[in-house]
Amino acid sequence: MKNKKSRIVLVGGGSTWSPGILKAMTTHLNEFPIEEIKLYDIDAERQEVIGEFAKILFKEEAPEVKVSYTTDEEEAYRDVDFVFCQMRTGGFDMREKDEKIPMKYGVIGQETCGPGGFAYGLRSIRDMVQMVNSVRQYSPDAWILNYTNPAAIVALALDKIFPEEERILNICDQPVNLLRSFASLIDYDADKLEPVYFGLNHYGWFTNLYDEDGKDRMPEIKDIILNGGFRPVDAEQRDQSWLDTYAMVEDMLIDFPDYLPNTYLQYYLYPEYKFSKADPTRTRTDEVREGREKKVFEECRRIVENGTAKDSTVVHNDAHGDMMVEVAGSIFHNLRKTYVVMVRNNGIVSNLPDDSMIEVAASLSINGPQPYAVGPIDTFYKGLIESQHGYEKLTVEAYMEGSYTKALQALTLNRTVVDAKKARQVLDALIEANKEYWPELK
Ligand code: G6P
Ligand code: MN
Repeated sequence: MKNKKSRIVLVGGGSTWSPGILKAMTTHLNEFPIEEIKLYDIDAERQEVIGEFAKILFKEEAPEVKVSYTTDEEEAYRDVDFVFCQMRTGGFDMREKDEKIPMKYGVIGQETCGPGGFAYGLRSIRDMVQMVNSVRQYSPDAWILNYTNPAAIVALALDKIFPEEERILNICDQPVNLLRSFASLIDYDADKLEPVYFGLNHYGWFTNLYDEDGKDRMPEIKDIILNGGFRPVDAEQRDQSWLDTYAMVEDMLIDFPDYLPNTYLQYYLYPEYKFSKADPTRTRTDEVREGREKKVFEECRRIVENGTAKDSTVVHNDAHGDMMVEVAGSIFHNLRKTYVVMVRNNGIVSNLPDDSMIEVAASLSINGPQPYAVGPIDTFYKGLIESQHGYEKLTVEAYMEGSYTKALQALTLNRTVVDAKKARQVLDALIEANKEYWPELK
């Protein structure tokens, strides 16, 4: 048992992901002891349900941990060691618009990719900057672990706006989700599979997967995928759209056999196909509202009513919570575990721009992420990443400069859009829908 205990605030306390993170905290107390956990949300109603659940969970599993929830910023950010950040500016109502508006113009509608991700990005930056400023006011040394999407845009914006910040780490669970699924194909412990990975967030590839004997298991895993398709490790709990997404890994591997791709590349490599399969009236938001959101809130309410979480299985199934907690533990206790995270490139991938925020394997220590060098990458991947980085950078600049032209350039560069006339139509529609949230673009 470690001596030093952490004080944590979970921003976006009323999120559907919160119960899984809270549960993961209770199962990792040996490697990551906790003194206090605070939940913070601007939506008091959603947060109360999760907050009351949290009190019961910790009372039963770890009564020594202090649990509270608040809508007050100062109370939330004062005297913490970690900020776990997973806010969603505009909530599911705006996610729905991000997904449905582009489809009216023949373009993919997706939470983080294409125009949907662009719109969400311009909404997230403002609140994220404000969050960093107030955290620094009340907890100057806290680590900010950010999971807020679109993480690629958020990471780049924060890097530009706070270039001196050394304690912000942007992370995404998709590499670890994939790693778990790859490991299950060869019946191996995912924690013992060492990945080599490069790319941008939601835009990367695994090049090697080494087991404990130093053997690269990638060829074997590719063979299995090519001979039977690919289902995620937790397939039974997955909605159909996620099963379809995992199945596309086989398609990508047939076309581009070098590496194992991140599932999000499907939108960039097959935009027309993905568009043709999508239903413009029913997108992922509808599925989440009817599925995870309903399930999580009903379950938390039930637990609160019964006063016990002992009989509950709904809230602790995900790799997501484990990753958030393990990443914090590895930093706080200098465990130097390897995770795929976002860092400023600075030569790690030697033929990509230094200022890109790349996603890469890194060892996490008390000094933060220590990324592993990748070296030069091949033309196809370099070309794809450079154009996507151009899109990300122009998006951030459009925000910072209030530039319509840069916004139009960004969307035109995005592989899900390409056509500048379409880009303009989508942009104008998104400006209208995001009036409350975006800076004015002139
Ligand atoms: C993965 C990604 C996240 C994304 C989530 C969406 O975990 O890494 O960035 O937010 O999927 O999941 P959902 O079930 O809400 O569509
Ligand atoms: Mn992600």
